[in-house]
Amino acid sequence: MHYPYQIKSLADYHAAYHRSIKDPAGFWASVAEHFTWRKKWDTTLEWNFNEPDVKWFQGGKLNITENCLDRHLEKLGNQPAIIWEPNAPDEQPRVITYKKLHEKVCQFTQVLKNNGVKKGDRVCLYMGMIPELAIAVLACARMGAIHSVVFGGFSAQSISDRLQDAGAEFIVTCDGAFRGGKDIPLKNIIDDALIGNHTIKKVIVCTRTRTPVSMIKGRDVWWEDEMKQVEEQGITYVEAEEMDAEDPLFILYTSGSTGKPKGVVHTCGGYMVYANYTFVNVFQYKPGQIHFCTADIGWITGHTYITYGPLSAGATTLIFEGIPTYPNAGRFWDIIDKHRVNIFYTAPTAIRSLMAFGNAPLEGKDLSTLEVLGTVGEPINEEAWHWYHEQVGKKRCPIVDTWWQTETGGCLISNLAGVTPEKPSWATLPMPGVQLLLVDENGNEKVAEGDETISGNLCIKAPWPSILRTTYGDHERCRINYFATYPGLYFTGDGALRDKDGFYRITGRVDDVLNVSGHRIGTAEVENAINMHAGVVESAVVGFPHPVKGQAIYAFIIYQGSHQQNTHGSDDLIKSDILQTVTRVIGAIAKPDKIQLVSGLPKTRSGKIMRRILRKIAEGETDNLGDTTTLLDPGVVEEIMNGKL
Ligand code: PRX
Repeated sequence: MHYPYQIKSLADYHAAYHRSIKDPAGFWASVAEHFTWRKKWDTTLEWNFNEPDVKWFQGGKLNITENCLDRHLEKLGNQPAIIWEPNAPDEQPRVITYKKLHEKVCQFTQVLKNNGVKKGDRVCLYMGMIPELAIAVLACARMGAIHSVVFGGFSAQSISDRLQDAGAEFIVTCDGAFRGGKDIPLKNIIDDALIGNHTIKKVIVCTRTRTPVSMIKGRDVWWEDEMKQVEEQGITYVEAEEMDAEDPLFILYTSGSTGKPKGVVHTCGGYMVYANYTFVNVFQYKPGQIHFCTADIGWITGHTYITYGPLSAGATTLIFEGIPTYPNAGRFWDIIDKHRVNIFYTAPTAIRSLMAFGNAPLEGKDLSTLEVLGTVGEPINEEAWHWYHEQVGKKRCPIVDTWWQTETGGCLISNLAGVTPEKPSWATLPMPGVQLLLVDENGNEKVAEGDETISGNLCIKAPWPSILRTTYGDHERCRINYFATYPGLYFTGDGALRDKDGFYRITGRVDDVLNVSGHRIGTAEVENAINMHAGVVESAVVGFPHPVKGQAIYAFIIYQGSHQQNTHGSDDLIKSDILQTVTRVIGAIAKPDKIQLVSGLPKTRSGKIMRRILRKIAEGETDNLGDTTTLLDPGVVEEIMNGKL
């Protein structure tokens, strides 16, 4: 494939950026015309951040899977679309060509239809990292059903919440998933999530681990049986549904600073254009290259840079089922060597954890095919950046530090590999079409004097094509969360620095959202989970720096268990009980690293917990706690400091 909109030089970048700001509609129309549309759009852009109401390519008709599959068949039909590397290195990898992927997606589209799924229905996908997950995603898109992928690490309760919020009637899952030495019983977890649920009509179960499962008559069917039936009918092609550019493509749940996770909604046209544009430009994809993004498809990174971005560009995308340390810490390097990977995209937390094993796992691994490295999900510290650059990239490969969010659909700030400058631990320059600004707490724009580096809250002035359109079922929540803090602006929730060259460095969240190993978790969500434990009176959760995870969770808990628990249970037992509660309510990823049982929490006279103080205590910065005069009971702080873990 040929990408006429690929930026080839720094001058090209500046020209594209300039044009994208002067004439956003003209700029994006000139990119969008290189896609397959059933009908061209009438209006390129209409927007108003106060509502918010954003519409790209209105009146345009398309199906994203025709762009990801059909349009490649003639020239790239026999090229691998997906290379799948299983959890266990001795199991055979699978290679799926574009032609085969197209056929499988069509057949599974038919399976969905046979099971009663209709355009606009919500389908929850709770699967491991097997090609069938990508097939299910694309089949939903092909028939116009809205997919909601739920990461395999979430608990039954989390799934149940998401099913309800999305009003989902269909689930596609697996018997189980292999992850390192573990076998996660996905279908059993789904069964737990469905206790008392009367809205789910069908559960399609794909075989992977052969873990025993119970199939409910009339509700549960096997993927393989359903596919066989379609294959036996000789169906190899199913027409894609014609979608409006602004029809929803998917919902993806993500944590905010309050309440339960919200369903971020992305739409067909704008998301497609931006996913492809950023994939081709940030990674400087060249036809024939093999792209390995280590994220899970359950996160936005896996949606955009394993699935839609690469496939819409006719790339070969590598899907890895396992984890970086199984069977040993050389697994990523083995995969790069074995499959001749050219682009490798991972999270700083993975880099730091592998760095801790030293350089031995890299020895003897041929990484000479690597051309571009990337990071995503959290700030990368300089030490990890240099290790990645020297030991993995052998000082030959540019590293793209891509800043973005579930809500943004694709990268908004990143250097373009080998084209625009890189700067360790800086995400650097905005993508074309992205108008950033830094503001103070009152929303006043910060302006640098001379060459100074300034800091502020990161906001965006105008929409790019893959900005979220709403939060499912609750548009007001979308407005309040992203567009109300600073009227007229999209607020990212992140703080950032900007240097004299206009480079941005993300400093982290400025709201009550934690970033643990690149996973986004709301403190309120963890507190709610902890508070569900019968013995917990109240809790407060904050983040603290962690050498591998970036941030870790510190929970301060007032515990007043039953008589039995108090006399027979040690603190350790209480803590492990609480951890189990969190695992049950959210999933293991939200488990606090430290739990301190306390008799009180620092509160203002109006009853508000002063998290600022707890954060400082958790960070070990007890010399300067700031103003504590407004505290109801300053004595509590001392007690907490004395008991610090
Ligand atoms: O705080 C930023 C951090 O991750 C948040 C978004 O999380 P999520 O929606 O889960 O998406 C992660 C993958 C796109 C952001 O608000 N973040 C993401 N990328 C970077 C980052 N922080 C620093 N540098 C990055 N490159």
